Amino acid sequence: MLEKIDHIGIAVRDLDEASARYTALCGRGPDHREEVAAQKVRVAMFNVGESRVELLMATAPDSPIAKFIDKRGEGMHHICFKVANLEAALARLQTAEMEIVAGAGGVGAGGSRVAFLHPKSLMGVMVELVEQPDNV
Ligand code: CO
Repeated sequence: MLEKIDHIGIAVRDLDEASARYTALCGRGPDHREEVAAQKVRVAMFNVGESRVELLMATAPDSPIAKFIDKRGEGMHHICFKVANLEAALARLQTAEMEIVAGAGGVGAGGSRVAFLHPKSLMGVMVELVEQPDNV
């Protein structure tokens, strides 16, 4: 069901500064940058092997990332698993009594469809599920 760790999401205050740090860490610049209006975030993606690191900066005070940073500061925000079929995965997880965050099935980076599971269902770590548009 879960095919791989698609990416790890990290909440940051300043995307340019964070991108510079991760460029230094990875040895090269971000592979992709995008604003995801539906999530009220701007992201920078760094490919790492077959996975990625996603830096997330809020674009509005009511962005989930702004709220997260207000409460917990910068840091790891979520871990994202790739699934082949988001609906099937959500149906299975509902029967496992996972709390699915409202707005599941919304648009994520790169035109993907995403859903989030509440951290209280998974030992304090938010989980994102992603179904890529071309199912690659
Ligand atoms: Co993500």
